[in-house]
Amino acid sequence: MASPSDHRREATIIDGKAIAQTIRSEISSEVRQLSQTYGKVPGLAVVIVGSRKDSQSYVRMKRKACAEVGIKSFDIDFPQQVTEAEVISKVHELNAHPDVHGILVQLPLPNHINEEKVLGEISIEKDVDGFHPLNIGKLAMKGRESLFLPCTPKGCLELLSRSGVTVKGKKAVVVGRSNIVGLPVSLLLLKADATVTIVHSRTHDPESIVREADIIIAAAGQAMMIKGSWIKPGAAVIDVGTNVVDDSSRKSGYRLVGDVDFQEARQVAGWITPVPGGVGPMTVAMLLKNTLEGAKRVIRVRVSATDIFRDPADVVQEVREGSL
Ligand code: GUN
Repeated sequence: MASPSDHRREATIIDGKAIAQTIRSEISSEVRQLSQTYGKVPGLAVVIVGSRKDSQSYVRMKRKACAEVGIKSFDIDFPQQVTEAEVISKVHELNAHPDVHGILVQLPLPNHINEEKVLGEISIEKDVDGFHPLNIGKLAMKGRESLFLPCTPKGCLELLSRSGVTVKGKKAVVVGRSNIVGLPVSLLLLKADATVTIVHSRTHDPESIVREADIIIAAAGQAMMIKGSWIKPGAAVIDVGTNVVDDSSRKSGYRLVGDVDFQEARQVAGWITPVPGGVGPMTVAMLLKNTLEGAKRVIRVRVSATDIFRDPADVVQEVREGSL
């Protein structure tokens, strides 16, 4: 018979939307300050090729978010048939543009364009997605620091830290090994002193490995794959999945679900992110944050490179005028 002590509290729901909103207000006030001091605002170029519905919707969200915090967005929309050379030439142009502090090329690119080649052409100082091989390489190495961390992984760790979940010394299991999420989030957890295991499509008995985890990052792209029985009681569950499933009870006929069976998992986990409203809004907030950091780095370098004996007001004036 169940006793009152058998009753477990339900998981704390991590409200990614609210946390992202707080971060966006912090960014907004920093952008205002930059603008008032130097007459400069951060600039983000968002490049999209073709008309995939999901990519178009992500890009629309990113551009809207820029406008809301005062970041200038440079919109580059290429048709599906654009050549690889044209995209690379645009990247070079943006690399040289003084008002562009971040460049994002929305993925996936069409098959005739080599993603690796295009991403490798983005200046590492403007690589706000953190996908340049040098930035990823630095993330993978001990004692090195990349200039930018990939947005979704950075958002996952921010959600953990703002929810009071410590990572150091914990067992973390990442489900999925994509270049965009699974791999970089594993590297980031390792940098944060977790013991990290990656479970993927060829892993034997993933369930028993996931059940060991204090922290689960679900990024497999499989709707509700992770059941309540896979989760160790009290674990922190970050669900990166965004899967469309049919739902005849909805007017739209579909709904979004994560890689975790939320209703089951919330009975077992200590913390859990919902889908939607968990990781998604954090990805956008981290992109804005990376763009702001990129812009601040440029302005700081321009100011500190100036003769220390000069009047700081003159230096600021020159930055405002763009002559420094
Ligand atoms: N496609 C899906 N997620 C991302 C992302 O974080 N960045 C880019 N550039 N493309 C994506």
